[in-house]
Amino acid sequence: MMLSEAQAEHSALAQRHLVEQIEAAGGWLSFEQFMELALYAPGLGYYSGGAQKLGKGGDFTTAPEISSLFGRCVALQSADVLRALHAPRILEIGAGTGSNFRFYSTVQAGASAEPSREMLKIARNKTRPDGMALVQSCAESLPFESNSFDAALATLVLCSVKSPQQSLSELRRVVKTGGTIVLLEHVRPGGLLGPVFDLLNFISVPLFDDHINRRTAAAARAVGLQTIQVEKHMLGIMNLIVCRV
Ligand SMILES: C[S@@+](CC[C@H](N)C(=O)[O-])C[C@H]1O[C@@H](n2cnc3c(N)ncnc32)[C@H](O)[C@@H]1O
Repeated sequence: MMLSEAQAEHSALAQRHLVEQIEAAGGWLSFEQFMELALYAPGLGYYSGGAQKLGKGGDFTTAPEISSLFGRCVALQSADVLRALHAPRILEIGAGTGSNFRFYSTVQAGASAEPSREMLKIARNKTRPDGMALVQSCAESLPFESNSFDAALATLVLCSVKSPQQSLSELRRVVKTGGTIVLLEHVRPGGLLGPVFDLLNFISVPLFDDHINRRTAAAARAVGLQTIQVEKHMLGIMNLIVCRV
């Protein structure tokens, strides 16, 4: 793909920043530190820098926008998720371009959090309930007080976050005790497909920053959430996970 002048300039800036950081660190960075900078360096990283990630100009292969068939499958399930969430104050993490806004009930209030400035720009132009604020934030460090939401949701987000454990712990912190967290996620399937996904993960992470072998329900339990429902779809690859805080 040919880069525009602005994209090439942004890319050069990001590269220079990485080189400076490597030099400042004495000549090398761990893979984790490198990815942290590449993805989240303020104003420059993949998520924080504002590049297009969805649609033809983007590279999120799991994004609902990428294929109308996949989009419709996810939309049907997202609609169920949101209908089930009749909580007064909700939080959505990784809200992307706001594809779930149309399912929010008009009385709902709360926040839609998303780290990408560019996606937030698109989301801002979509209709959402007046009480839903748009907030730029990663799931691992949510800028909300503890116990400030009645429910939370994420659709196709925990495959992308840097740390599912930290993200789920944050959700547990900001949702009130007794509240609900609903996750619609693609995960590591069971049976023979599991090891296949383990292998494919070696390709999906470097290429798309998409972790296709995460055990999201188990991760939720590991941070102390109670999984009250795990509905498996598409050979166990898509899970609807309902947690109680
Ligand atoms: C596949 S898209 C899904 C978007 C939206 N939830 C939907 O269903 O249309 C993954 C989303 O996760 C977001 N994301 C990536 N890393 C994140 C993080 N550390 N915390 C929160 N969201 C993150 C991406 O910016 C992107 O919007």
